[in-house]
Amino acid sequence: MKILQVKLGIGNSKINTKFSGRSLPNEKSKKENDLINKKRVESILAELDNMVGLEMVKDLIKELRAFIEIQRRRQQEGLIKVSTVLHMIFKGNPGTGKSTVARLMGRLLKELNILSQGHLIEVERADLVGEYIGHTAHKAREQLKKAVGGILFIDEAYSLARGGEKDFGREAIDVLVKGMEDYRDNLVIILAGYKDEMDYFLQTNPGLRSRFSVQLEFPDYTVPELLAIAKSMADDRQYVLSQNAIEMLRNFLIREVFFGHRHNGNAHMIRNIIEKAIRRQALRLINKSSLTRQELMIIEKQDLVWLMPMKDNEEQNKLFTRSPICYNNSR
Ligand SMILES: Nc1ncnc2c1ncn2[C@@H]1O[C@H](COP(=O)(O)OP(=O)(O)O)[C@@H](O)[C@H]1O
Ligand SMILES: [Mg+2]
Repeated sequence: MKILQVKLGIGNSKINTKFSGRSLPNEKSKKENDLINKKRVESILAELDNMVGLEMVKDLIKELRAFIEIQRRRQQEGLIKVSTVLHMIFKGNPGTGKSTVARLMGRLLKELNILSQGHLIEVERADLVGEYIGHTAHKAREQLKKAVGGILFIDEAYSLARGGEKDFGREAIDVLVKGMEDYRDNLVIILAGYKDEMDYFLQTNPGLRSRFSVQLEFPDYTVPELLAIAKSMADDRQYVLSQNAIEMLRNFLIREVFFGHRHNGNAHMIRNIIEKAIRRQALRLINKSSLTRQELMIIEKQDLVWLMPMKDNEEQNKLFTRSPICYNNSR
């Protein structure tokens, strides 16, 4: 008798399912979608966590993610949704991770249903400012249209104000401000550039400043951080830096960080070094008849020898005709 009741119970629930229309499969697929979506968000955040340094950026992105999620849940409960302006200012030297973070931010905002596409359109002054009356408005509007659904990232944005009152850069700023209104629900604009230049730019454009509530600073990477970035870039390419190579790189970076120029490129510089070391390693190995997996992976000190100042290094003298400190020119 008991068994029969249980069976009937199951039967009834089946009948109920049928009678409640298609709600259950839909609910199931919604749950599945939510789960997939949550996993995507987690994986983007894990990617962010794997980036070296950038603690303030990581904190802010987590804060934004939590804010957006909680507003969504509040809305479900019929509470008012507090909106926030997501246009941002990224201040920092080249190579400090601004574009990389912006790209990641686009993907995250898409998964959080803030942006429909999440792509990044990266532009600079020349892409927005024209040469004659009317040209600028057209150019700037075209870029805005391309970016709708994603992020319009304007590098060295301070240069839009460089020509004074009559410069067409001002016109571009006006078009951007209008675009921020027109595409309010599906576009994020990020203005990026050197800290001092951006601070001055915002100070002289108070109307703009109030529209960009989120400001993030990207400090130069320290030597240990640059070394960690070098190891991870090598690792991404399935190469390994030997201990001696790391020491050589460390010495070079200490010199660069203390005596180098602020335009030296930070993580861009590391990427250039790793790419060149890979080519140097290839040159070292090319005439060997048999090579182990290990040999194919290791970057040795001699693959980085071109980083040493010439006067310190005789071997270097044979290899190069100009100072290796100008590594960008020698590529
Ligand atoms: N924190 C980081 N960890 C690992 N790689 C990084 C980090 N920051 C930058 N990079 C790498 O350095 C290079 C330059 O970064 P990018 O975002 O283009 O800098 P920016 O836009 O500030 O000039 C890219 O290849 C990027 O992947
Ligand atoms: Mg960049």
